Amino acid sequence: MASPKFQALRGTRDILTPDSERHRALVDVFAEQCRLAGYGHIMSPIFEDLGVFLRVGESTDVVTKEMYDFEDKDGRRIALRPELTASVVRAFVQHNPTNLPWKAWYEGPQFRHEKPQAGRYRQFSQVGIEVLGSNDPQVDVEVIALAWRFYQELGMQEVSLLLNSLGDDACRPAYFEALETYFRDRSGELSEASQETLDKNPLRVLDSKRSEDQSIIAEAPLMVDHLTAETAEHFAAVRSGLEALAISYVISPRLVRGLDYYTRTTFEFASTALENAQNAVGGGGRYDGLAESLGGKPTPGIGFALGVDRILLACDAEGVFPGPVTTPDVFIVDLTGGQQATVLADELRNAGIAADRGFDGRSLKAQMKVADRSSAALALIIGEDELASGAVTVRDMRGDSGQTQVPRTDLIGELTTRLGR
Ligand code: HAM
Repeated sequence: MASPKFQALRGTRDILTPDSERHRALVDVFAEQCRLAGYGHIMSPIFEDLGVFLRVGESTDVVTKEMYDFEDKDGRRIALRPELTASVVRAFVQHNPTNLPWKAWYEGPQFRHEKPQAGRYRQFSQVGIEVLGSNDPQVDVEVIALAWRFYQELGMQEVSLLLNSLGDDACRPAYFEALETYFRDRSGELSEASQETLDKNPLRVLDSKRSEDQSIIAEAPLMVDHLTAETAEHFAAVRSGLEALAISYVISPRLVRGLDYYTRTTFEFASTALENAQNAVGGGGRYDGLAESLGGKPTPGIGFALGVDRILLACDAEGVFPGPVTTPDVFIVDLTGGQQATVLADELRNAGIAADRGFDGRSLKAQMKVADRSSAALALIIGEDELASGAVTVRDMRGDSGQTQVPRTDLIGELTTRLGR
């Protein structure tokens, strides 16, 4: 019986070269922005105690419907991380750093059991930052500006910043009451799902995408109209900071985001180059109560995560950030058995020249075909003649510039010149 053939699971993908190189290059651009702004890299585990993520919001789809959670061999409830903020805050509480604000950046895969479609996957990648230990609105500005500069660095121009304040514990009781009264008065008109959500968290009803809820949501009371003087002042300072940096934003009073931990400043980046449903290329905000809910001291925090897969789709749509060239500098064609190519490739790679080579003792024609497909600038041919005279034939593959024999001892110098190094 034939062995079964497997495919990557639904909602997951193999990212092969050159897409994978582009993905890495994007992370490198992000890492550089983080380095310039004084953020340290954090690598936290991909799975955590389920409890870490329950704090993200027990009335959100991310937690109730989409979590990859399971019991491990020790009988513990474990979850593959659906996002990194809770993990980073868990790490902050665990290690208790004293130099505040503590600024960390990350990259890596996240897991959500969503309905797969273009730009929405079950394993997807994020880059992001988190800052813990400061209330300063200038931190909010720094955080938002870092994402903004990153998009610019990639060459993206069709990104808009949606900004809101979700208030804090001091603003919320009055707002929640106003919101709940409003929705209760019209609950008969709400979808069944939203009526259920209303019992858990009236704020989440604002996040409903169901068509029957939209006209009711459109007239609902707004958080920004219920901010305390202190929070309103904080929000004004954030806006003023963004203006000082010439970062344009759109106030979106109905922006609630899909996670429960947010307080005060919240934001989302939308790509106008992408279809509406999957156009969020990043988002974030303050979560001033999360550290405490994970067993730490009360510590304000703010951060964002940007979706790498979606950003690359947006870059395609805008025709920017093509990714790095990954072709070898030279391709070695060895007609003497293969060991000459092994030794030469090793020597060239040690000298910083990217060298690929043929295998399996194939004919000149077959190896030249592979050399051509590799898009290497130069082919280096070693036949019996070259071996006897201690030389290598260098053939330029970029045009019709012919070929010359170069003594083995002069080869690296010659290649360096020809490659314009
Ligand atoms: P989020 O809005 O859930 O926030 O995700 C951030 C970004 O990840 C989204 O804007 C989107 O680009 C990408 N994304 C989310 N789900 C998927 C998916 N299924 N497939 C592809 N891309 C996806 C967070 O995760 C928060 N932890 C952000 C944050 C950090 N808030 C404070 N600090």
